[in-house]
Amino acid sequence: MTQRASAEGPPRDAGPPVGGGAQSALRGASILLEASGIAKRFGGVQALTDVSFTIRHGEIYGLIGPNGAGKTTLFNVLTGIYETDDGQFMFDGEPLDHLKPNEVAARGIARTFQNIRLFANLSALENVMIGRHVRTHAGVFGAITRNARTRAEERAIAARGFELLEYVGVAERAHDLARHLPYGFQRRLEIARALATEPKLLALDEPAAGMNATETAALSKLLHDIRRDGTTILLIEHDMKLVMGVCDRVLVLDYGRKIAEGPAADVRANPAVIDAYLGGDIALDLKGA
Ligand SMILES: Nc1ncnc2c1ncn2[C@@H]1O[C@H](COP(=O)(O)OP(=O)(O)O)[C@@H](O)[C@H]1O
Ligand SMILES: [Mg+2]
Repeated sequence: MTQRASAEGPPRDAGPPVGGGAQSALRGASILLEASGIAKRFGGVQALTDVSFTIRHGEIYGLIGPNGAGKTTLFNVLTGIYETDDGQFMFDGEPLDHLKPNEVAARGIARTFQNIRLFANLSALENVMIGRHVRTHAGVFGAITRNARTRAEERAIAARGFELLEYVGVAERAHDLARHLPYGFQRRLEIARALATEPKLLALDEPAAGMNATETAALSKLLHDIRRDGTTILLIEHDMKLVMGVCDRVLVLDYGRKIAEGPAADVRANPAVIDAYLGGDIALDLKGA
């Protein structure tokens, strides 16, 4: 990964990237994703209603809300798994209408899933190489037929895959089957696979779920690294300490509607947000946040 952190910028250990510094740096930054009036219904369940927000280039944008609030559904309509009933996404200046998931990926949005989706019986490296095929000439079919050009391309993909494993801290287990990796490694492997598509926007659905404190701290550092290296992040997460530590701004959904949006610290103190969490089945865990 190329490091784009400028020498003029503040030192990385100057403090958390929430609050004044990051906010003012982002003010005026161009918009990467704009959601306008997004709606999605499943039978009798209105999963999303009139959800609008914008994410700027270089931002880490949080998406929180109680279970069932519509967070994963928002990812699913964004990434082409479901069509929206209403509303539109504009990504990098172009509409994302009626695209299939692979077309959305090719446009520059990569995601991970709330429930880990890896090829359990492929190695860590092979899992990353599969992500990479979105960006290669030969594609998956070429990889199967294996002519000379695709063999050369495969070597380049493997080298890049290994770099990505190093980047997320999984290189030492590159040749282990995905199913043999510890949980925190599997989560980071999914992120490496998503990064292999060279996304402009990386959308992560509860990446810290089930992680212990050490794994979560490693994840937090990784998210800062990814943003520093030029990829914008949309983060669904219940771990409020992580959200407060990494997100510039946060959008709160409740029953499919936007109930708050703003800098992480403001959202945390918002009475409507506290109510939504206290009324639901998870507590807003602010210990140490
Ligand atoms: N494929 C689906 N079919 C039917 N209902 C769904 C589907 N996906 C989500 N829902 C419903 O939409 C609502 C929002 O779910 P979801 O987006 O998974 O919430 P969250 O990720 O915030 O926990 C829930 O009531 C859920 O049961
Ligand atoms: Mg979810």
